[in-house]
Amino acid sequence: MTAFTITPLTPNFGALVGEIDLSNTLTAHTMGNLERALLQWKVLFFRDQDIDIEDQKRLGSWFGELEVHPTAKRDSANAEVLRIEEDGEHRAHNNLWHSDVSFELEPPLGSILRAREVPPVGGDTLFADMEAAYAGLGDDIKERIDGANAVHGWPPAWIDIAMRQRGVTDREEFRRQFPDPEHPVVRRHPRTGNKCLYVNTAFTRRIVGLEQSESDELLAFLYRQAAIPEYQCRFRWQPNSIAFWDNRCTQHYAVADFHPQRRVVERITICGDRPI
Ligand code: OGA
Ligand code: MN
Repeated sequence: MTAFTITPLTPNFGALVGEIDLSNTLTAHTMGNLERALLQWKVLFFRDQDIDIEDQKRLGSWFGELEVHPTAKRDSANAEVLRIEEDGEHRAHNNLWHSDVSFELEPPLGSILRAREVPPVGGDTLFADMEAAYAGLGDDIKERIDGANAVHGWPPAWIDIAMRQRGVTDREEFRRQFPDPEHPVVRRHPRTGNKCLYVNTAFTRRIVGLEQSESDELLAFLYRQAAIPEYQCRFRWQPNSIAFWDNRCTQHYAVADFHPQRRVVERITICGDRPI
């Protein structure tokens, strides 16, 4: 028996979970059902969860170790919490299709994002189902990309931040510690075994073995798949709304239409494994 309710946002992708209180420690049975729901719907949404950071961390910890974002402040007591605070002066620049920190060798399993302050309207987040995006490709493209690898890289501005925060002054040393990884263009989801398109506009640099121009052209086509409405769902936030996405098979886009109004969200991130 499932203790919570599921209300789909679209027929196959994204669902609202109701009749659940995340400030409670949930039973292993409920957590198992929640994980199955995440695997099925890929992104789960919750409303009216007046929880604290410990609750948010406990929810994430059930799925795996929590990750400290590479550019998060090192000295903060809650280093696992990534706080994104936006207003007239600060912008997050995450209004592009991406999966989180794919430039890591082992990118996250998923993230749990909780809204603290939201504008009266605007600041929605879009999600794209990258398993559906792969399935929708023609056989010729699938043949070209099955087995191909792509280089993912740090955005240069983030390297500077990460170096400052770690006290690393030598760029070469930093690059030795954090080399740009290669990931399969089509990854298999470690739990479902399903193939997902795994390149994104924010962090993918080039497809290995192709001329840059050919790689750019193919990547531009693959990036466009996330922008197809049939693969998407769109979430309108309220204070205490939560989105929990599977970062292995989805991408997201934060709509930057609300500035200069304030929007504050807090994310915890669950460690994942190396894409295969
Ligand atoms: C993130 C992110 C989207 C948003 O937290 O990784 O991209 O809508 N946020 O704030
Ligand atoms: Mn993101």
